[in-house]
Amino acid sequence: MTDTANLPGGPGAGGAGGNIRPDSSYVRACALADVPEDGALGVEVQDTPVAIIRAGGEIFALHDVCSHEEVPLSEGDIYDHTVECWLHGSCFDLRTGEPTGPPATKPVPTYPVQTYGDDVYVSLPEQEAR
Ligand code: FES
Repeated sequence: MTDTANLPGGPGAGGAGGNIRPDSSYVRACALADVPEDGALGVEVQDTPVAIIRAGGEIFALHDVCSHEEVPLSEGDIYDHTVECWLHGSCFDLRTGEPTGPPATKPVPTYPVQTYGDDVYVSLPEQEAR
């Protein structure tokens, strides 16, 4: 069996059940089974809030704080490849973190994500890793 869909290095890189071991920059975030289909799970990775989101069979990782006000995006709804902030309704593209409509105007950070075995791993930038 080959698997070319789970290369590390980009948001949304992880498909379900990847079998390529993440490199050492990746940290385990959660069990893959804990992420609902077309839903989100809020976790803390190295003191950073991260929303692990499954949409269309792909896994994404975004900073779990809306860029408009400080509420968790993991409590929002998933539509296509966006997450909708529950407070004021801005949607953020899961691949880029860019808002697709107001009131939010700034993107939220996205993180490289990878699945390996039964788990989800994310790679946080240096300045956010502690
Ligand atoms: S807090 Fe998210 S859109 Fe306002």
